Amino acid sequence: MYVLGISGSPRIGGNTGLLLDEALLGASVQGAEVEKIILNKLKMRPCQECETVKDDGTCKIEDDFQALFGKIKKADALILASPIFFGSLSAQTKIMIDRFQCYWRYKYVLKKPVPENMKRGGLILIEASKRDEFLDNAKAIVKNFFATANTEYKNELFIKGIENKGDIAKHPDALSKAYELGKSL
Ligand SMILES: Cc1cc2nc3c(=O)[nH]c(=O)nc-3n(C[C@H](O)[C@H](O)[C@H](O)COP(=O)(O)O)c2cc1C
Repeated sequence: MYVLGISGSPRIGGNTGLLLDEALLGASVQGAEVEKIILNKLKMRPCQECETVKDDGTCKIEDDFQALFGKIKKADALILASPIFFGSLSAQTKIMIDRFQCYWRYKYVLKKPVPENMKRGGLILIEASKRDEFLDNAKAIVKNFFATANTEYKNELFIKGIENKGDIAKHPDALSKAYELGKSL
């Protein structure tokens, strides 16, 4: 079992990263091979809406998305973690999702065969406010992304009211819930 954790926060040592680390720890104690990707460290252009695209489901822009796409395809489970920025996913997270457009077209327009086995997916979101509509908004986007990426939406952990770097560590049970999320995936 290979579990890929993807962090959409630009803040090293921030809340999203700490939650994701715990989730990956939970997965690893169950025997999974785990890997963490920090999207902010990748060189990844936003989707360019290319006039001509490849029919094989891959994106033709040659950057770090190519290796990430390979890892996502290989993974048995994905844990996507993002802070809420302006009521939605972070830009880093959204850039990755938009780059799946060629795969979306391959799957839903060209109706090409995709793997029968669904991956398992977990979503971790964190916001400073306590606005459910922001979390619902981000969740809807991720559900769409997971469906495209042959991933079943299995678990979620949404944390509200945490703003400053690392303050998640003071939360009474957020880290243990993240651990459980990873373990159960
Ligand atoms: C550019 C930016 C936009 C943000 N927008 C929101 C927002 O719309 N709603 C909210 O509740 N928090 C918002 N926040 C706060 C973050 O979601 C919050 O501080 C979170 O804990 C950051 O997680 P991190 O440490 O993993 O980056 C924003 C923060 C930044 C930097």
